[in-house]
Amino acid sequence: MKITVTKGDIASVECDLLALPFSSTELKNEAAKTLSALGIDLQVLKDFRAEAGEVVVLYGVSHKCSALRVALLGIGEGKSLDDWRKAAVSFAARSVAMKIENVAVDCSGIEAFAVSTGQSVATLATAFVEGCFTGSYRFDDLKSGKLDKKPSDQKSKGIVELLFRVDSGAVEESEKGVAEGAIIGSCQKMAKDLVNLPGSHLQAEDLAKAAEESGKKYGYDVTVFHKKEIEALGMGGLLAVNKGSHYPPTFIILDYKPKGKVKSVVALVGKGVTFDSGGISLKPSENMGEMKSDMSGAASVLGAVEAAARLGLPLHIIGLIPATDNMPGATAQQPGDVITTYSGITVEVGNTDAEGRLILADALTYGTEKYKPDVIIDIATLTGACIVALGYAVAGFFSNNDKLADEIYQAGEQSGEKVWRLPLWDLYDEQIKSDVADVNNTGGRGAGTITAAKFLEKFIDGHKNWAHIDIAGPSFSPKSAGKVSGGTGFGVSLLLEVLKKRV
Ligand code: BES
Ligand code: MN
Ligand code: ZN
Repeated sequence: MKITVTKGDIASVECDLLALPFSSTELKNEAAKTLSALGIDLQVLKDFRAEAGEVVVLYGVSHKCSALRVALLGIGEGKSLDDWRKAAVSFAARSVAMKIENVAVDCSGIEAFAVSTGQSVATLATAFVEGCFTGSYRFDDLKSGKLDKKPSDQKSKGIVELLFRVDSGAVEESEKGVAEGAIIGSCQKMAKDLVNLPGSHLQAEDLAKAAEESGKKYGYDVTVFHKKEIEALGMGGLLAVNKGSHYPPTFIILDYKPKGKVKSVVALVGKGVTFDSGGISLKPSENMGEMKSDMSGAASVLGAVEAAARLGLPLHIIGLIPATDNMPGATAQQPGDVITTYSGITVEVGNTDAEGRLILADALTYGTEKYKPDVIIDIATLTGACIVALGYAVAGFFSNNDKLADEIYQAGEQSGEKVWRLPLWDLYDEQIKSDVADVNNTGGRGAGTITAAKFLEKFIDGHKNWAHIDIAGPSFSPKSAGKVSGGTGFGVSLLLEVLKKRV
């Protein structure tokens, strides 16, 4: 997507679809003025309420306006960043559905809008561009097109060009914001693509290759431990989960150091289960294919580190990704097995489907011990129970540090990737006691998200600034009418926002 900020007259913006964003309060005055100036019949305002994301496309636009078509774009009351992002998503989705590749948006009101939302012009520009990436995203890499009958079946190029039209005073800030939006948007796209690739196309080694490519391109170090090194290190959790697999595991380390001074050292750990069948504790077959998304945590860590590197954040950021699939088979680990993790802590494997915490355990201990980070945050599609508790839109999270918890909550509000804190009370430890090992990897029916977090807490070696984010719900949209299903890239923007708070 080529994005250009322009300050020319609205009427002279050349494109195939020009969006005119309006809030409900602007409908009476400003909207009528803008439309009249473009020679548009005001009757259309009868059918437009400016609800966030509402799009009304107008044809037969007068000769006064260089755009081929115009779209009225609703931004709700014009007070919220979420509504603004929603409008961008909806505008882009409509453009792509109509196979329109050259679009423009009139952001004449962006400075006033910045005041009413309490956001900067740059942030608003970033959010709009991010929304355009989201709304125009399609995953069609695996479609050959051989069965397409009509031209409309063909793969879409998405939005090829976006003109972002502002008044001259807002050009500089908009350019900054647009550039950041393009970086975040492309990192989210990378994360979604990885999530959408099934086990036939993405195994642990492939995830490592994707990380290496990103590191090479954007100037940060990537080290990959292969099976031999993982064995030598004694990462018993990762090896146990990998036992039933045909493919070797990898342990991927992303290491971004800024050019100048380092403000703090942050470790991000992402669950990289490329496919989770449950192992011997096999999952039911219905929708099991969605478990290709069980490496969403890994994808969001990779996306966030790449974005931080491209933005040049003054932080030392280490991304740690333990990767494998979780398969049943003659060599697979068995329920009741006792394994020794990297930390030396022994675990009774009550359920082989609670595999995420086993691989995260090794990564958390390795990360705290080796890098002594100021903060360590893990992100994982860890429990179905989190979907029961918070649904598909919101992630659950935990922290042993109230300040960090507050930062993560605020980052969720700002990025639009909402999170809700759950407790880490010790009374939940009862549920994961084992008779034969130091701890059990399952805690029974109640509070499944919390017992998973209590399990992870044992592997951070007393670190005082840790958080765990459970993205089982928001990482993947199941198939439903009218919505694009698949990976969402949830976590990239959230983590980046957390990182920005530390600079
Ligand atoms: N990857 C799953 C969690 C999950 C479920 C993510 C649904 C996204 C959608 C995880 O490995 C798992 O299987 N967790 C078990 C834990 C249980 C066995 C203690 C679960 O949630 O059922
Ligand atoms: Mn599982
Ligand atoms: Zn899993």
